[in-house]
Amino acid sequence: MESLKTKTKERYQQYVMGTYAPQLLLVKGEGIWVWDDAGKKYLDFGSGISVCNLGHCHPAVTEAIRRQSGILVHTSNLFMNEVQPLLAEKLAGCGFDGVTFFANSGAEANEGLIKFARKWGNPQGKNEIITMEDSFHGRTLATLAATGRAKYRKDFQPDMPGFKQVKFNDITALREAITDQTAAVLLEPVQGEGGILPASGDYLKQVRELCTEKNILLMFDEVQCGTGRTGTFFAFQNYSVIPDALSMAKALGNGFPLGAIMVGRPFAGVLGVGTHASTFGGTPLACAAGCAVVDTLQGGVLANCREQGSYLLEKLTTLKDKFPCIKAVRGKGLMIGVVLDRPAADLLPILNELGMIALSAGETVLRLLPPLTVTREECDLALKIIEQGLARLPA
Ligand SMILES: Cc1ncc(COP(=O)(O)O)c(C=O)c1O
Repeated sequence: MESLKTKTKERYQQYVMGTYAPQLLLVKGEGIWVWDDAGKKYLDFGSGISVCNLGHCHPAVTEAIRRQSGILVHTSNLFMNEVQPLLAEKLAGCGFDGVTFFANSGAEANEGLIKFARKWGNPQGKNEIITMEDSFHGRTLATLAATGRAKYRKDFQPDMPGFKQVKFNDITALREAITDQTAAVLLEPVQGEGGILPASGDYLKQVRELCTEKNILLMFDEVQCGTGRTGTFFAFQNYSVIPDALSMAKALGNGFPLGAIMVGRPFAGVLGVGTHASTFGGTPLACAAGCAVVDTLQGGVLANCREQGSYLLEKLTTLKDKFPCIKAVRGKGLMIGVVLDRPAADLLPILNELGMIALSAGETVLRLLPPLTVTREECDLALKIIEQGLARLPA
């Protein structure tokens, strides 16, 4: 009889557009573990690309989805639902006083940020947005134009106008790029896809000062680095810098699609009635998942993220002495990059074989994004597997 994997592969090939090339068939997840169709279990240090930050099928999120799906799933935003403002209130309570618009993905959230910046800037004759080299903001046309990696834009010209990129962590480059048309600066406090590169504290402070001085909006893309990933609820809380607006998605629903933009209180009226919308944005079901995520993150999860993150960073750094292929180890909280002297993709299948899932970022960075609930024992297991994997790489 044909195996589940063979049948599934055939269906993919015949019916699913080939924009991805997945190899493993995963059938079950619990906490940090996922299982494939053959019953093999993997330590998941990818969390579905920083989505399942509370681990797979977290009981509080599963229960919230189960409960809400029996009460009210969708109303459209033409009607109030009690869960959406509850989640917005909880988000504001996490340390960013402002209002929220709900979307379904990171790219959709960033589209909202871009519209917010243009709506605010246009009456003042400004509509250009400065973003960073090596940044990633999504795959829609506007977010591609914002993204600082040309390879994603190739084949999709013309680029949407109104964006320019400058070197990240370089205040002079930013200062020189600002013109009378600049409406906003958009950046990831910790670059994710580009290679797990944190902004320096001094740099972000200077960016904030520059934006305030020039009357330019400072907007943070916290789609990957937010929702607890760096050890604070918002990534900007690692820095003494407050943005004017930010985007979130990925882990906000722990796997249930949910994105959001938040704008600071002084900008609450910029996007008024009829200026922006989303049929699925902020359904009671998505927001119930979001509420469960935010409530659960209030516990010891953030402290655990900081503690295990420092531990992993320290232990991985010591591996540098043993493996010259490691060029650097960097990150914040449980957003960790191990910079190799070769494509990180060389290591990923070896880790899979050894029972672990990890990711790449940029070309040469091994990206580790375990659930924020990861234990010391699981960190030690991951370190052991990574060490075994590195040993299998050709010299
Ligand atoms: C920083 C950042 N912004 C935006 C996105 C796009 O999010 P989505 O894939 O949900 O559209 C991503 C996705 O990886 C991201 O890392």
